[in-house]
Amino acid sequence: MRVLVTGGAGYIGSHTLVELLGQAHEVCVLDNYDNSSPVVLDRVRKLTNGTVTAVEGDVRHDATLNAVMADFRPDAVIHFAGLKAVGDSMKDPLGYYDVNVNGTIALLRAMDAAGCKRIIFSSSATVYGEPVYLPYDEAHPLNPTSVYGRTKMIAEQILTDWAVAKDGAAVLLRYFNPVGAHASATLGEDPSDVPNNLMPYIAQVAVGQRAHLNVFGDDYDTPDGTGQRDYIHVVDLARAHVAAVDYVANHSGARAFNIGTGQPYSVQQMVEAFRKASGHAIPVVIAPRRAGDIAAMQADSTRAHAELGWSATHTLDDMAASTWAWQSGNPHGFRGTYD
Ligand code: NAD
Ligand code: WQD
Repeated sequence: MRVLVTGGAGYIGSHTLVELLGQAHEVCVLDNYDNSSPVVLDRVRKLTNGTVTAVEGDVRHDATLNAVMADFRPDAVIHFAGLKAVGDSMKDPLGYYDVNVNGTIALLRAMDAAGCKRIIFSSSATVYGEPVYLPYDEAHPLNPTSVYGRTKMIAEQILTDWAVAKDGAAVLLRYFNPVGAHASATLGEDPSDVPNNLMPYIAQVAVGQRAHLNVFGDDYDTPDGTGQRDYIHVVDLARAHVAAVDYVANHSGARAFNIGTGQPYSVQQMVEAFRKASGHAIPVVIAPRRAGDIAAMQADSTRAHAELGWSATHTLDDMAASTWAWQSGNPHGFRGTYD
């Protein structure tokens, strides 16, 4: 299929391009490089020997969207483009609603004008909020605790209403905690500032860029007292998008899918896995709990197994080892000397 990938130069988008090209899909990227660089797409081209058409532009810009639709004529769209920092979303709610919600509306309008009826959307497990029960299944109530989470919940609702009204197909992929890097160590997560997320922070400690990891609380009601999350290898996550592309070819309506492994790990277990993979000590300091954090999250991905035919195959050791290979091979990310 011809797949338009918004935000395709980003962390998850770039890994997804590799998997799409590996399955002989044609791809076109729309990205404004707000949190990425065109260098990423060169790496994807080199890795796959594939064609990646790229348009620099904003997903909120109607004329750009209409031109891309007319030129590329996608059969389906994967919509990654968006802002994702929870803390920033609380300080700049309008900026987050604008990009994440208005960007989705603009994209759907351009799809309508072009007659494109299939979309796969980057949602997040954060739409569930404080667990009423665990593991979360897709029927768990939605009660996000941040502006970022609300932008995802609202975009999901808009996509659902659109799918019903237009007889379209919308797959809402609720990612748990994406980590890891491509096995080639040429693609990975490249935070532009101090990492907000655990795995990139640990990686920067291991490579010597930061002195220690602050562990945000060791008195949670979990086996070792530190927070538990359902970490998902980014290549497994990328493959879920390829499965979703196949799914939207044969279905209509909106459907949400949890994308996680079902196996939670604690902060302490992540530190230990990374120490083992890197051979480096990871000094930790126990710090206060981070505002808004939940003790534990865990996915029930039964629906994705049953209906998308998707399962995670990478282990915790794969997540740690690939992150380490990426971080140690590219200590300055895509701004390094390897291009
Ligand atoms: P990322 O920041 O690496 O990728 C997002 C891409 O979108 C970047 O290339 C950025 O330049 C682009 N972009 C941002 N605003 C844009 C705009 N207005 N117009 C065009 N392009 C724009 O993030 P990621 O981790 O790859 O996340 C991809 C998607 O998945 C996001 O929607 C994010 O909210 C969602 N998500 C991420 C996680 C995670 O932990 N990484 C978890 C759940 C959901
Ligand atoms: C994981 C665990 C922290 C950093 C966030 C977003 C969510 C989604 C994924 C986009 C927690 C602990 C972390 C550190 C620590 N993103 N931690 N020290 O909070 O589950 O989810 O990213 O959709 O929306 O909220 O992930 O990686 O920040 O934290 O101890 O320096 O690591 O307290 O227990 P989180 P995370």
